[in-house]
Amino acid sequence: MIYLTRKEQFNAAHRLYCPDWSVEENEKYFGKCANPNWHGHNYNLIVTVKGEVDKQTGVLVNLKTLSKVIQEYIVEKADHKNFNIDVDFMKGRISSSENIAIAIWETLEPHIKVLGVQLHCIRLEETDKNSVEYFGD
Ligand code: NI
Repeated sequence: MIYLTRKEQFNAAHRLYCPDWSVEENEKYFGKCANPNWHGHNYNLIVTVKGEVDKQTGVLVNLKTLSKVIQEYIVEKADHKNFNIDVDFMKGRISSSENIAIAIWETLEPHIKVLGVQLHCIRLEETDKNSVEYFGD
């Protein structure tokens, strides 16, 4: 079993806001992240897939194809968009890094599978200091 990782980047806006809470409760819990007029991040999306090396090609998966899948289903939908409003795979979810990573997994997983490899990890870096990893369970 070998693991291969591809990194992509996008810029997006969001606001952390729990609809069950008052404005004050949201501000108290989420701080600046609850700012009503949004804020943005330069996200790093790091996708790791796993499987067996193809004997003929010597590679796990065509990197260009993998990149194209991530671009088409995630980056083009999220880049320069607002996670709370514009991004279909985030509909009905609070736009935390945790939820974005889970939604990215759910969106990408079937498209990764058809490439003949398994999705292993979605790592989403919101800032240099904050990141999440999701392994599908
Ligand atoms: Ni934020």
